[in-house]
Amino acid sequence: MNWKAPRNESLRRAIENNELLVAELKGKVVGFIHLVVHEDIIDGGPNAFITAFYVTPRLRNKGIGSALLQRTLDEALNGGCLKVETSTTNQDARHLYERYSFEQFRGEVFLELDVKKYPKKRKRRDSAGKDLPKNATG
Ligand SMILES: CC(C)(COP(=O)(O)OP(=O)(O)OC[C@H]1O[C@@H](n2cnc3c(N)ncnc32)[C@H](O)[C@@H]1OP(=O)(O)O)[C@@H](O)C(=O)NCCC(=O)NCCS
Repeated sequence: MNWKAPRNESLRRAIENNELLVAELKGKVVGFIHLVVHEDIIDGGPNAFITAFYVTPRLRNKGIGSALLQRTLDEALNGGCLKVETSTTNQDARHLYERYSFEQFRGEVFLELDVKKYPKKRKRRDSAGKDLPKNATG
């Protein structure tokens, strides 16, 4: 996978993979929700994660977000997903999610790696805990 691909490439892949649901008004996209299904080896089945959810500001509080969320949740659950997860810092979004029965379980928090702080010179170790040489692959 080419991680440097421009955003259009990411969008194209999301559309091809049926991960994107959009709301249209007069031929223009006014909102979207992006849901990725992944295998959960602990639960033993497919789980879903909402990575992005957006409605254009002038059309908010009219039910577009609710319609996108409900349709996406119905499709994920009818498609066999065992869980649907998401993460947000936005209070409006959180309120909406809670209206659709999302909960923060047992104080669970979402952690994100600070890529800039991640120590680049960190020593790589093999499965026995021995330091690997810099040019080792795998
Ligand atoms: C989160 C977001 C997508 C919600 O979209 P939206 O279209 O405003 O959502 P809705 O209109 O369905 O619901 C918003 C509120 O309007 C209310 N509402 C729904 N239909 C309504 C109507 N016809 N008239 C008045 N209010 C209405 C809903 O009850 C809801 O209120 P509540 O959250 O207090 O229950 C939008 O606020 C957004 O894009 N936020 C910025 C991006 C973001 O933070 N995304 C989440 C990251 S995952």
